[in-house]
Amino acid sequence: MNKAIIKLLATATLFAGSMLAPPSTTAADLKAGQKAFDANSCSSCHELSASTIGPSLKDIARRYKGQPVERELAQRIRAGSAGRWGGVPHPAYEGLDEADALIIATWILGGAPR
Ligand code: HEC
Repeated sequence: MNKAIIKLLATATLFAGSMLAPPSTTAADLKAGQKAFDANSCSSCHELSASTIGPSLKDIARRYKGQPVERELAQRIRAGSAGRWGGVPHPAYEGLDEADALIIATWILGGAPR
C-alpha cells in the first residue's frame, strides 16, 4: 500500500477513536478527579453508594450512563443545580477551576473508582 494512504488511514483511525472514547480519560485523570472531589469537600453531601444530602455518586453515574454529559455536569457543578434530584439544591462552586470540574464529572460518570 502507498505510504500516503497508510498515513491517511492511521490518522482517520486515530480521529475516529478520539470521537468514540470519553474525553480521553486515563487512570491519572480519574485519580485527579477523585483528588479534586476530596479537596473540595464534595463528600460532605455525596457518598459513593448512599444518598445523603445529595445523590450518591453511583446514582449519578447510573442516571447518565452511556450519555456524554461530562461537560454539562461540570457546568452544573460550578454554576449550581436544583430540581433534578429533589428539593435540595447543589451549591455553586464558581471558584472551582473548569478543568477540575470536568475531571470530577468524568470521574463520577466513570463510577467514582478509588
Ligand atoms: C451542601 C451539599 C452539597 C455539596 C457540598 C455538594 N453537592 Fe453536589 N449536589 C447536592 C444536591 C442536593 C444535589 C441534587 C440537586 C438537584 O436536585 O438538582 C447535587 C447534585 C450534584 C450532581 C448531579 C447534578 C445533575 O445535574 O444531575 C453532581 C455531579 C454533583 N452534585 C457534584 C458535586 C461536586 C463535584 C461537589 C464538590 C465540588 C458537590 N457536588 C458538592 C448537594 C451538594
